[in-house]
Amino acid sequence: VTGGTATGDAATGDAATGDPRRIRVALGQRGYDVVVGTGLLSAAGEFLAPVLRGRRAVVVADETVAALHLPTLAASLDAAGFRHDTVVVPPGEASKSFAQLERLLDAILDLAPERTTAVVALGGGVVGDLAGFAASVLLRGVDLVQAPTTLLAQVDSSVGGKTGIDTRHGKNLVGSFHQPRLVLADIAALDTLPPRELRAGYAEIVKYGLIDDPGFFAWLEHQGRAVLDGDRPARAEAVARSCAAKARIVAADEREEAGARALLNLGHTFAHALEAETGFGADLLHGEAVALGTVLAFDLSARLGLCPPGDAERVRRHLADAGLPVSLRQISLPERSADRLLARMARDKKVRDGRLVLVLARGIGAAFVDAEADPGRVRDFLAERLAA
Ligand SMILES: NC(=O)c1ccc[n+]([C@@H]2O[C@H](COP(=O)([O-])OP(=O)(O)OC[C@H]3O[C@@H](n4cnc5c(N)ncnc54)[C@H](O)[C@@H]3O)[C@@H](O)[C@H]2O)c1
Ligand SMILES: [Zn+2]
Repeated sequence: VTGGTATGDAATGDAATGDPRRIRVALGQRGYDVVVGTGLLSAAGEFLAPVLRGRRAVVVADETVAALHLPTLAASLDAAGFRHDTVVVPPGEASKSFAQLERLLDAILDLAPERTTAVVALGGGVVGDLAGFAASVLLRGVDLVQAPTTLLAQVDSSVGGKTGIDTRHGKNLVGSFHQPRLVLADIAALDTLPPRELRAGYAEIVKYGLIDDPGFFAWLEHQGRAVLDGDRPARAEAVARSCAAKARIVAADEREEAGARALLNLGHTFAHALEAETGFGADLLHGEAVALGTVLAFDLSARLGLCPPGDAERVRRHLADAGLPVSLRQISLPERSADRLLARMARDKKVRDGRLVLVLARGIGAAFVDAEADPGRVRDFLAERLAA
């Protein structure tokens, strides 16, 4: 049973007083809470104890996050009586590999884990995806806790159960669905995040408003600056609303079969093509590519007469105000070729029977899946954008 509704709108707690909020991901027996609040890592043991089967954990973190946030988490696990070990991986997308997966699994197996040992993924989406996948295959599946420390991971990758690694054929092509037992999104962990990473995660927050919540987008137009500048109540509100949105979509379509979950790919088919062209590296972060892709999706929707041009302009202005790239002029591509981008888009996983599947919009908060996008029109549109 994958149905059910998330109690997203009823997220409890009060960010102003520091009470954590809980958002339920309603997936029956696989359901779990996303807890959003300040200082959660220093109370992690108390949050984990009621949801885990055992009192043993292996924390997985990258070197950067381990240096900054592992001591806090470890102290709280000690205080709650957890036996715990740590496996550290190199930072960066390259760690989502067969080689690092093997290293990680062997390192955990060296510790003689039991079926009730939990894996705690402390870090960004890279660690969440890698450690989550490892947890799903270790001893045929052990408990997983996501403790996301990037804005992107807090609002997107830690919720929903997608895990995986990259191969030479492309990103995220080997993986599993493995829902966590708990997501602990500590707003305080964001204090150490580089501003560029923060802005990249912000693009995914904007996405939720654009999909189906125009009120949230309007809120972001007023409060986005506070979110970016480090205002904790504003950050908690933005993260909680984003998680509620993702929880709702995941509860309706856990394995991306019914269509609802495909809406989360707003801006992403364009984004993946741009990331592939720029090598999935520091030249263009995923969230930056999503910002560009979202602008392209709205501009194309306006061009096709589906969306008011004023809405597309609002989207562009807001993402630009957030310091995100909104024009192809702002990035360097190896070749400014519409055909190359279109070929990349067609190779994306989101292709059904040779037709381009795109998420387009009838306006802000009114995204829909267009499974019949005309590749010729998309190519002409891209050619014009590349020349602009
Ligand atoms: N599973 C999903 O549903 C899903 C969804 C979206 C994205 N993803 C995946 O997420 C990955 C990207 O995640 P990401 O953007 O979090 O990247 P990331 O995990 O590489 O983190 C970005 C950088 O920030 C550093 N960092 C993390 N937390 C920090 C902190 N609190 N303070 C200082 N530095 C910190 C990391 O060391 C890293 O260098 C991609 O691999 C993508 O495919 C998965
Ligand atoms: Zn994304």
